[in-house]
Amino acid sequence: MSSSHSNSAYSLLSDPFLQFPTESSVKVVWFTEFQGRENKIIYGQNLDKEIIAKTTELSRTREDEQSKVKGDYSETTRRQIWRHEGEITGLKQGEKVPYKVVTLVKKDKIESNVFSLASSPKKETPLKILLTSDHQLKPMVAANLQKVVETIGKVDAIFLAGDLVNIPDRASEWFDDQRGGAFFPCLQGLANYTIENEDKTTVYHGGQLIQSAPLFPTIGNHEVMGKWSETKRLSRQFVDAIPREVAENLYSEKSDSINPNHDNNFKESWIKNNSFNTDTYEEIFSFPQTASNNSHYYAVTFGDIRLVVLQVTNIWRSPSLEKKVTGRYQEAEKDFDNPENWGYGQHIFKPIEKGSEQYQWLKNELKSEAFQQAKYKIVMFHHPVHTLGGNIVPAYTNPIQKINKDTEGNITEIRYEYPKENDYIIRDLMPLLETAKVDLVFYGHSHLWNRFISSNGINFLESSNVGNSYGAHLGNNKRQIPPDYSPLNYVEIGDPNGLKPIIPNLAPLTDENNNPLPYIASNEITVFSILDTEKGTVSSYYFDTRKPNSNVIKFDEFAI
Ligand SMILES: [Fe+2]
Repeated sequence: MSSSHSNSAYSLLSDPFLQFPTESSVKVVWFTEFQGRENKIIYGQNLDKEIIAKTTELSRTREDEQSKVKGDYSETTRRQIWRHEGEITGLKQGEKVPYKVVTLVKKDKIESNVFSLASSPKKETPLKILLTSDHQLKPMVAANLQKVVETIGKVDAIFLAGDLVNIPDRASEWFDDQRGGAFFPCLQGLANYTIENEDKTTVYHGGQLIQSAPLFPTIGNHEVMGKWSETKRLSRQFVDAIPREVAENLYSEKSDSINPNHDNNFKESWIKNNSFNTDTYEEIFSFPQTASNNSHYYAVTFGDIRLVVLQVTNIWRSPSLEKKVTGRYQEAEKDFDNPENWGYGQHIFKPIEKGSEQYQWLKNELKSEAFQQAKYKIVMFHHPVHTLGGNIVPAYTNPIQKINKDTEGNITEIRYEYPKENDYIIRDLMPLLETAKVDLVFYGHSHLWNRFISSNGINFLESSNVGNSYGAHLGNNKRQIPPDYSPLNYVEIGDPNGLKPIIPNLAPLTDENNNPLPYIASNEITVFSILDTEKGTVSSYYFDTRKPNSNVIKFDEFAI
């Protein structure tokens, strides 16, 4: 899959990519399907230096009958993948250094092409940053990223607001899905994704981006796997996430029999395997290893930018009220008497409300010198703050369970409510970001482009249009809300949090009456956004995949 060259039967599973630069270092990561007897990074102006990489095996990657990959995976099966990481140190800011990676396996030597690496840029370095999200192997990702490179050239970093793949433990979604649009190939210019139009077939290769520019990701709902099973389909395990507290209670009931010696490691792994985890995501990427930063929330300085990354995401469940559905508003009828099968509504994976660890961490970060001094203060997470998309309703708050019973005590209904006044993003998070004078809040999750400005000047951008859009809720296109729920609390149209979407100021799309549209929600027109630190702007571009020879159009630009 990679652009490595050798006559060997072996090849690298990915090209190398860059992670977490500091002022004097950067990490290089790549993957193989074998351990290799030696894995190293060759670097320097004359490729005359080398370091040995640290090799680890991904612990949860698997394939199953729904995998689109070579090999027999009629049953859910472990897939062995090794990750290699080396940190290049002693770099000078602003200096670009050639590098390649080499894996030795048996008598063979497999090496990547030569790319360039750098430490984090100095202040006042002009930077172009790609803002993207919700790739999930959607049909327009390869076209989108190819157009980024054709339009902008190489970018300096990528900020990715979550939902990298669909099912994180399915290895082929990251590396080698046979449809040609896996995560790494799209971001490394190695995709082969075909879009067919009436008169033309076009193959898109994505963009060669992350070999030479660091990728900063965050956790969306698609980074989270639910309850572990050796045999169930991965898509089943993905939706089988229940709140950690429920698993903790189950553990307490059973602990004497399943863990008679009260071993704490056993307890922790039992609770994880019976609730949810982000292990594969955490094992693939590198995160700052400091006392406060971790894989769930972190902050970095990159040139003039202070980027604060939060984990703000809940499980996605269907709004349907059909009796068989384990949904956001109800439990399935067949499970009323089987709490072990309940979904517990759209529960939140990592608390952000006032008083939570993450909230405290953010408060300290916003007070820090690094944040306060930064020219551009940017906060990124997955869940929307303001959007026309569907996923902003119900409110971002812990579901309240209501169980109704008949006169004989039989359960007739299990419902979930989400009081809007308890929306943690609006009630707790936004006041902190407003006080701290954040310039831009960037998120995804609803698969459309739209933007907003609050009365005190904070810009909000959702730029996640790479295919499989779920539409914008304006006019007659109402969100699906239970008929007995108040539309004041469960808002059917527009931004439930009260802002008007901004009409793109350069070249908006129009409706059938030629009125400009304040969004792009399309399965044929794809969008990307570029933050330019020299001009202090965010520019958004669209490309119409129905017209493969058409130009990329810059349709919106705002200052931050
Ligand atoms: Fe999402």
